[in-house]
Amino acid sequence: MSELIKLPAPTPSGGPPVWTVMAARRSVRHYGVDPMPLQVLSQLLWSTHGITGDLGVHELRNAPSAGACYPIDAYVAANSVQRLDPGLYRYLTGDHALLLLRGGNVGKEVARAALGQRMCAQGSVAFVWTAVLPRTTGRYGQRGHRYVFMDAGHVGQNMYLAATALGYGCCTIGAFDDAEMNKLVGVDGSVETVVYVASVGPRE
Ligand SMILES: Cc1cc2nc3c(=O)[nH]c(=O)nc-3n(C[C@H](O)[C@H](O)[C@H](O)COP(=O)(O)O)c2cc1C
Repeated sequence: MSELIKLPAPTPSGGPPVWTVMAARRSVRHYGVDPMPLQVLSQLLWSTHGITGDLGVHELRNAPSAGACYPIDAYVAANSVQRLDPGLYRYLTGDHALLLLRGGNVGKEVARAALGQRMCAQGSVAFVWTAVLPRTTGRYGQRGHRYVFMDAGHVGQNMYLAATALGYGCCTIGAFDDAEMNKLVGVDGSVETVVYVASVGPRE
């Protein structure tokens, strides 16, 4: 049985100037305990995957992507989010919704796969970003393998800046066991593979 959770619409207005946010951005690895409002999770996902334009033939998003292929997908390990049961969700960009894949303390599993980086279990959420490789290699061949990592970097930076602007701490994570992380989110590591992770939680 699958459960689809429609996220509240993002409210991308107000907040500190972009220059202040850039200067304040740091990797934050310890967090406060307050659960994250669902509105904040919605805003964070919008900042990395939000659809903000339409070229007719395809959409455009707020993070750039080589050839507008958008190979990066998001999985959410929710540890402590208001109105959201703890568990693993897949983010459905077009619907701005979360699909529950399984319940439970998935953040702990993400921490284990991230070589014991406890912030993945301590934060409100851990984002696990995969690359669906044929979206890019289908057009660019071998070069597409390089593009997915560049795309992931942009997604990560947008997450850092959005979290900072919202008063949250973020740390992106590249140190993880590939096979373990792929297994955890249920991807094969060949067509779809985990490329980047981030933990986000309230500033202490
Ligand atoms: C690709 C990438 C992978 C990273 N992986 C990790 C990681 O596995 N664990 C961690 O604690 N920080 C990780 N970081 C954060 C860096 O350690 C951090 O950006 C760097 O020390 C500079 O500090 P700052 O982000 O606070 O300015 C990563 C950053 C990037 C860009």
